[in-house]
Amino acid sequence: MWVPRLLGRSLSQLKTINSAQFSRQISAKIVNESSIEVQPEANSKPLTFPGIWLRDNCMCEDCFHGSSKSRKLDWDNFDTRIRPVGLQTDEQSKEVLVKWSDAHESRFSLKWLKERSFEPDKQQEYLRDFYRPTTRHWSGAEFQEIAQHFSYDEVMSQDSVLMQWLQALAVYGVALLRGAPLDEGVVRRLADRVGFIRRTTYGEEFVVQAKPGAQNFAYLSLPLPLHTDLPYYEYKPSVNILHCVVQTDSPGGSNMLVDGFHVADLLRRDHPEDFERLSRIVVDWNDIGSEDGREFHNIWRAPVICLDAEGRYTRINHSVPQRDSHFNVPLEEVLPWYESYARFVRLAIADSHSFKTRPGDVLTFNNIRLLHGRTGYDDSEQSPRYIVGAYLDWDIIYSRLRVLKKRLTASCQ
Ligand code: OGA
Ligand code: ZN
Ligand code: ZN
Repeated sequence: MWVPRLLGRSLSQLKTINSAQFSRQISAKIVNESSIEVQPEANSKPLTFPGIWLRDNCMCEDCFHGSSKSRKLDWDNFDTRIRPVGLQTDEQSKEVLVKWSDAHESRFSLKWLKERSFEPDKQQEYLRDFYRPTTRHWSGAEFQEIAQHFSYDEVMSQDSVLMQWLQALAVYGVALLRGAPLDEGVVRRLADRVGFIRRTTYGEEFVVQAKPGAQNFAYLSLPLPLHTDLPYYEYKPSVNILHCVVQTDSPGGSNMLVDGFHVADLLRRDHPEDFERLSRIVVDWNDIGSEDGREFHNIWRAPVICLDAEGRYTRINHSVPQRDSHFNVPLEEVLPWYESYARFVRLAIADSHSFKTRPGDVLTFNNIRLLHGRTGYDDSEQSPRYIVGAYLDWDIIYSRLRVLKKRLTASCQ
């Protein structure tokens, strides 16, 4: 937290105390009566900051609560007509001091200001490096190049490797950890290393194995077509962790993965009407059943390709078993939607990459971006298959990633 070093001294006192030390290195001026233009060094590009935003972000004790890093100024009476009326720069502490039309005074360090530059490229850099890394979409043929491997032990013991794993997950949506012990606690230890496990209807850790009388389609040894898990949740779990404890010797049991964002890119480019339909028409996703004696009936309505207001992908939904037989759309939308969806699924299958995990592998992937599946296998006592799964949420992962970046890299925000 930035603590104002000269807090308590008034602007007029400062002028007299420090006048000899002021040089023309940092300079600042009021522009259009409402903004402040700061030139960090002689000949550097001036940075413009709206006065109202500066006043809103004053960090004096009256306006800011230091230990909670929270704004506490009286916003109920915030006056948007506030104007800067006087400026001073302190070369020694590298601060800009502002006197306001309501006689309040604020000071801002140059470092703090530069980090919050309104220059569009600086804003993009901050969003990319700190908010969320830019995703890189990939085709199935590129899988070997983009899929990064990390040692489970190193992820558990070295923060830099933990950061690299989470960064790879954020950018590519998939990463593989190797060399994990073969006990059932691995997924929880990994989730705890990041933050905490995400609980769902199916519990916290879940075991994927062929079970007689299975209530869940995944708990059969049949092929599991490409899908995303739990599309019927508004807050769909973000990242799957699948720890291979025992792998079948039978020819099947391989995992399939495809980048849903890449498939959506293909559709957008080559079949724009299909893309439009799949990103507009709302589908009912559902799951009815019981787990540990508790009945559930989940429904969430959302398109297959979910976009934000700027047309960026936020989430892909796909599941054959967990699409409701209720389809609450106008009659004339039904057949065209089926045609578009069938094309999306065909493209996804054609682009998917399959590989077989080995005991000790932990496959991690973005459940709101990738589609995944599993080939069928022969389940027998001689050749069983035993996968332990769990989920993590992006809020928790991004938070951990930011904390690690702040600690391990110099670009502290
Ligand atoms: C699932 C699933 C993959 C596997 O349970 O939803 O995708 O490898 N399992 O069995
Ligand atoms: Zn203040
Ligand atoms: Zn699944």
